[in-house]
Amino acid sequence: MEIFRNKKTFTDYIERQKEMGKRIGFAPTMGALHQGHLSLYEAAQKENDLVISSIFVNPTQFNNPDDLEKYPHDTNRDLKLLENTGIVNAVYLPEVADLYPAGLKSKAYNFDGLENEMEGKSRPGHFDGVGTVVEELLRQVKPDNAYFGEKDFQQLAIIEKLVQQLKLPVKIHGVEIYREDNGLAMSSRNERLNAVQRDAGKVIHETLVKVNDWFRIITIAEINKRVKDIFDDQRGMTLEYFEIADEQTLKQTDFFYKDKNYRAFIVVNVGEVRLIDNMHLD
Ligand code: PAF
Repeated sequence: MEIFRNKKTFTDYIERQKEMGKRIGFAPTMGALHQGHLSLYEAAQKENDLVISSIFVNPTQFNNPDDLEKYPHDTNRDLKLLENTGIVNAVYLPEVADLYPAGLKSKAYNFDGLENEMEGKSRPGHFDGVGTVVEELLRQVKPDNAYFGEKDFQQLAIIEKLVQQLKLPVKIHGVEIYREDNGLAMSSRNERLNAVQRDAGKVIHETLVKVNDWFRIITIAEINKRVKDIFDDQRGMTLEYFEIADEQTLKQTDFFYKDKNYRAFIVVNVGEVRLIDNMHLD
């Protein structure tokens, strides 16, 4: 596995691979790698000649400086893990100046309103930060395919919109949520849960499974009430939001329309840890 810590040597490497006609699959990360990331590399390996990853904790997408401060950093551990996959051909570890040559500032995007729903309400500026770093990474890595987890479904939808608006020559792939044995969506944040909290967190996925069973049988108002009741009964957990939204527009819906696709979105705070999850409803 090749490791690049510098933009010039990395982009020269990319040029050489392109000249040789290699198909590049790319999965950007912020490190703290886990099995969920590995599933992105596995998906990339199936349809590309080369798998490339990046590790960069992007300051502009943290609206809360405390969150940035607490974000786990262990590059040596991450590099070992990447090496052990035997899948990743190259990893890019850019410096701030490689991605933000004009200074650490986000661009202002308009993602047709996708940025104002759910996470956009509680994390102002977050998606401008994500858009800025992902746009720059895609321009430098020049992948044929790029892979993002469906756990951050709103982020995935926004990146698809970004690529479409800027006509970037890359295909975006969503990769199914990788779950722990008890159903908890895999996340770097799970490491901050104690054993009791980690076990209790399974109720999030269990609730989404129930919502899927109730879907189109009872009203959305009744589903919302039942979900609220479930979390009112959980000690040490607070439901931040639960929404059933149109998968295309991400707008919350109060009624089901036959020809639309819907997804349930949930955020729960377990102690101080904010857990996010979602499920396609069928
Ligand atoms: O999902 C993430 O890890 C980050 O938001 C991403 C896409 C790597 C951009 O910093």
